[in-house]
Amino acid sequence: MKMGAFWQEEVVYQIYPRSFMDSNGDGIGDLRGIISKLDYLKELGVGIVWLSPVYKSPNDDNGYDISDYQDIMDEFGTMDDWEELLHGLHERGIRLIMDLVVNHSSDEHSWFQESKKSKDNPYRDFYIWKPGKGDGSEPNNWVSFFGGSAWQYDEVTDEYYLHLFSKKQPDLNWENPRLRRAVYDMMTFWLEKGIDGFRMDVINCISKAEGLPSAGDDKYAWGGEFFLCGPRLEQYLKEMNEEVLSKYDVMTVGEMPGVTPELAARYTDPANKELNMVFHFETMDIDAGEGGKWNFTKWKLADLKAVTNKWQYGLNGRGWNSLYLNNHDQPRMVSRFGDDTVYRKESAKLLATFLHTLQGTPYIFQGEEIGMTNVKFDNIDQYRDIETLNFFKEAVHDGGMPVEQAMAAIYAKSRDNARTPMQWNESKHAGFTTGEPWIGVNPNFKEINVEDALRDKDSIFHYYKKLIQLRKQHPIMIYGDYDIVAEEHEQIYAYTRTWRNEKWIVILNFSDREAEFTLPEKLEEYRSGSQLIISNYENVTERPISEWNLRPYEARVYRLV
Ligand code: NOJ
Repeated sequence: MKMGAFWQEEVVYQIYPRSFMDSNGDGIGDLRGIISKLDYLKELGVGIVWLSPVYKSPNDDNGYDISDYQDIMDEFGTMDDWEELLHGLHERGIRLIMDLVVNHSSDEHSWFQESKKSKDNPYRDFYIWKPGKGDGSEPNNWVSFFGGSAWQYDEVTDEYYLHLFSKKQPDLNWENPRLRRAVYDMMTFWLEKGIDGFRMDVINCISKAEGLPSAGDDKYAWGGEFFLCGPRLEQYLKEMNEEVLSKYDVMTVGEMPGVTPELAARYTDPANKELNMVFHFETMDIDAGEGGKWNFTKWKLADLKAVTNKWQYGLNGRGWNSLYLNNHDQPRMVSRFGDDTVYRKESAKLLATFLHTLQGTPYIFQGEEIGMTNVKFDNIDQYRDIETLNFFKEAVHDGGMPVEQAMAAIYAKSRDNARTPMQWNESKHAGFTTGEPWIGVNPNFKEINVEDALRDKDSIFHYYKKLIQLRKQHPIMIYGDYDIVAEEHEQIYAYTRTWRNEKWIVILNFSDREAEFTLPEKLEEYRSGSQLIISNYENVTERPISEWNLRPYEARVYRLV
């Protein structure tokens, strides 16, 4: 079956190279490690791999701080290894998309090294420099994503530079056409090597509001309204498309905190020639409390439905959705949206069903396919993520928060939940490395690992495989229109998909209790029958279609006939 673009029809698998597979015993995942697992990816059935950054980097933010965009990080291997990886993927019919991190570079990039030398250096305007205010304070009051002021003073030229992330990640100045040209040339370098597209890191941050105004009167404040989806974003995206992307048959997905469905529909509308997909954050925000991600609350099914409705209806027939429930920046989905103890298998499969039965392209994050869970390290010293460590310092050392409270937030929300090594088997360090891993392995690796999952026909892995196969056979899973049913139900999330003359119903019990589902009146005509497509429980008895009882975390998909 081939009807639309490859990026609509294939499933994407994200690899976080540092934590995937170590081939040389230094405790850090690497390219040769990934090469050794290509048959595993083939077996799963994914059609596209998204590789988190593998470029030269001092690793202040694990590769999202790049010091040379056209070279490979020593710890990960060489350009020859990378070429072999690309070839190995293509040989297996799997495409490769690379991470494009161009809102900022590393402060160790030669551009920045030049830029900081003097105000008249030819690279000065590759970055965003401003003098301090008269009273000696920062040029504006914005805080960075990782906490603290978004400005860093540099005494060489007595000015501040902007960094929306860590101070080792200075923001690039997209207003400068020379910078834009340099980025386009770099993109062309990789496309000429034969890659199949880009995942674009925080791409909606590249256009800042004219004059960089402060956000209100507080000393420090969140300034998102002045740099998220800013005034010239679409101009830059269109230019990038025209100058680079339109010359290749490739895909793009732009990471966009704060993006709305209305804007995303514009950015991903093929007529606008900007991007194919965006990653929005509205699902990820349903458990954020008033103070943001660390101050979390229990998420509600009604909110998951409301957000999903907005995006499913909002982009239908206009743009295209990306579908994800976790990635390297988020906690593990089974711990967050399912149940990682009693119903781990059932709930992981239910979430997988959800992911593969919405309109859009599913993105699987490494380890999700075996139901890997969040981790609880005893001590803050065992954590590695800059955002987590900054939070702990600000909350506990500077803010007086009790350690237990900060650790509870870290257990629920830390990015390191996603970054513990991939659990391959039950040998030491889960088979990830023969050395000391750069971050501890989740102690549950003896129960949760790839080797077991491959052996057990009823595993989460085999369920993913089946969903991916079904998606290849049934265009309705990809293209069908989404329509929510029984919206008020407190335990069940149910929706139909409709495509040509076909209609399916997806019924998901998001609770750990039995739940009753009655076919709503609007589906009256289908009371006579249904055919089961997939379910995460065995022994699904055929009942009269109007009354289904679902067991804890039971998921069923039927064709309505
Ligand atoms: C988003 C990336 O996914 C995250 O890992 C990184 O820290 C920031 N962008 C900065 O590049």
